[in-house]
Amino acid sequence: MSAIHQATCTAPVNIAVIKYWGKRDTRLVLPTNDSLSVTLDQDHLRTVTTARADPHFTNDRLWLNGIEEEIKSAGRLDSCLAELRRLRADLESRDASLPKLSTMKLHVCSENNFPTAAGLASSASGFAALTVTVAELYGLGEDFSRSALSKIARLGSGSACRSVFGGFVAWEAGERGDGADSLAVPVAERAHWPDLHVLICVANDAKKGTSSTSGMQRTVETSPLLQHRIKHVVPARMKAMRDAIDKRNFAAFADLTTTDSNNFHACCLDTAPPIFYMNDTSRAIVQLVEEMNRARHEAGQDAIAAYTFDAGPNAVLYVREADIGTVLRAVRHYFPDADFDDTFNMLGAGAGASHRGEPSEQVLPVMPPSFNANIIPVHPSGSVRRMIHTRVGDGPRTLEHGLGDASMLDEEGMPKRTKRAKRV
Ligand code: DP6
Repeated sequence: MSAIHQATCTAPVNIAVIKYWGKRDTRLVLPTNDSLSVTLDQDHLRTVTTARADPHFTNDRLWLNGIEEEIKSAGRLDSCLAELRRLRADLESRDASLPKLSTMKLHVCSENNFPTAAGLASSASGFAALTVTVAELYGLGEDFSRSALSKIARLGSGSACRSVFGGFVAWEAGERGDGADSLAVPVAERAHWPDLHVLICVANDAKKGTSSTSGMQRTVETSPLLQHRIKHVVPARMKAMRDAIDKRNFAAFADLTTTDSNNFHACCLDTAPPIFYMNDTSRAIVQLVEEMNRARHEAGQDAIAAYTFDAGPNAVLYVREADIGTVLRAVRHYFPDADFDDTFNMLGAGAGASHRGEPSEQVLPVMPPSFNANIIPVHPSGSVRRMIHTRVGDGPRTLEHGLGDASMLDEEGMPKRTKRAKRV
């Protein structure tokens, strides 16, 4: 039997605290401003990808969560694969002993460990995992830095370029027309600020919203506020955010994160026609966090939480470890009965205990004296559908080369599981 050319890797989700919104070049995915994100822990949220090259394969094929996807010619996926093949062909031309993987078709199988129903965007972890896995299969790891790979992930989805690193990551917009200087760079390792926890509140929302790709283009074309954001808001905020992370200054981090999320959503509202990503539940979470922060400030303390929202209604809260229990209970009080897998044993029923379909305890935790408990009403059951507790995580991991236990492809190079996994 001939050798199996295959690799399996994982990549994390990232959530921006200074948002990317707008492209100056849609084909090369070059952004209009720098952005900065926090990588989340892959133990809780990640994409696993297996890629195999084989001379018997007749087409490039891709399966996402057990379902085959069409690979559009000259589409984003196609341009990632073309760039990776070009780099491999380059290696092969310099070393004749290398198998000609660049001429073989690929089978790629990719799965998220978080349910699609969680309502979390998976394009960042997905394109990062694809890029890192095919690069690993092609042996590009030694000659190419993670920043170099981030430029290829960027061609798939802008935010994906930041998922090639763990910890705190900046995407430098760059200036060149060919995108050579538009890449991700590490700002700080995950171990730099282990105190930072993340609580994702998945808001119930049946509507299918505007995709980030089309939404941001409409904002670029119509919003004067976006031009102000690009020139006058983001540059100073990037500096201040780097400084806040460097000093582990949570008060500054929280202030910058919430104001940048609000500025981004203001640009969406300034778009013609306007784009609404946040819903009533999102706005109520904003009011709750703002009131908790106000009461803390009045008691002479720092903010308790920072909120940020991407192109959808889900809130992502950044909270320090000492405060996470209070914030979790406050959200469970006002937004009862959310499904919650208790990864860090906050509720005392054991680490990983599953709280699903059961009423939450409905007790407001101890708050600073001036906290106004009537700031928002207790919402209908399930307004927040699910909560995920995670923290800052590491960068992509290589699980194996060849056909081992981690492989998502069988011996024939077909997915081991072809139906959508039911893990909701
Ligand atoms: C609001 O990376 O999904 O999450 O480059 O068109 O694929 P494309 O867009 P995408 O946009 C993400 C926008 C955001 C902010 C961010 O992640 O920085």
